[in-house]
Amino acid sequence: MKLRTIAEADLPMIMDWRQEYPESLRTCFELTYAMQYDWFVNIVNNRQANARYWMILDDDVENSFKFPDGTGGFKDDVEIAPGKPIGYGNISNIQWENRHAEIGLLIEQGHLGEGKGIGGVKLLLEQAFCFMNLENIWGECYHCNSIGLDFWKKVSYISTQVDLPARKYYNGEYWPSLYFGISREDWMKALDK
Ligand SMILES: CC(C)(COP(=O)(O)OP(=O)(O)OC[C@H]1O[C@@H](n2cnc3c(N)ncnc32)[C@H](O)[C@@H]1OP(=O)(O)O)[C@@H](O)C(=O)NCCC(=O)NCCS
Repeated sequence: MKLRTIAEADLPMIMDWRQEYPESLRTCFELTYAMQYDWFVNIVNNRQANARYWMILDDDVENSFKFPDGTGGFKDDVEIAPGKPIGYGNISNIQWENRHAEIGLLIEQGHLGEGKGIGGVKLLLEQAFCFMNLENIWGECYHCNSIGLDFWKKVSYISTQVDLPARKYYNGEYWPSLYFGISREDWMKALDK
């Protein structure tokens, strides 16, 4: 598995994916393409933004992303690396002074339960700790997202976990959130195992 930058051509796929998981989203209403494009321009393609997003790729080169003319290669000055996109992930809400940021990811429904989520988290943490020089990564998972909850509880290098009440209003109910923290130290210890 690997990460690559997000290209404009990925946007329709990302829109479809996120609409399959409304229980996991902060903005759980359906986005228009115009909104998705604004996000691409203002956040993904803006080097001053306090967030970084990546496509998560499988190593399946046979089924790699192809443009309509059958090529991989370059589009909009972004290199499209070989490999099949199976999700996307982020290190966002970055506070450079305090050296912490939030982690999030989404795996396409056709690839759930194959260990791709765990693989994606490893790649995102590698970016955070080895390339962005962050010290602490945190995340939030709403209790209405029961699969996400089981998932984060399973990630063994999570050292700090706390539930806060009423963090999400979804489907007529207030739901608690799991907040978790992963320090560089926890991550390094987990690498040694
Ligand atoms: C949460 C999510 C990333 C998990 O991805 P995944 O690729 O299916 O996860 P993995 O295959 O790596 O599973 C790892 C562990 O998570 C837990 N898990 C994953 N899917 C589960 C399910 N359907 N039911 C119960 N536990 C599950 C299991 O404990 C699993 O370990 P196991 O295989 O030893 O039982 C995926 O369901 C998803 O993208 N959901 C929508 C977006 C989201 O909720 N993101 C997280 C919040 S930021």
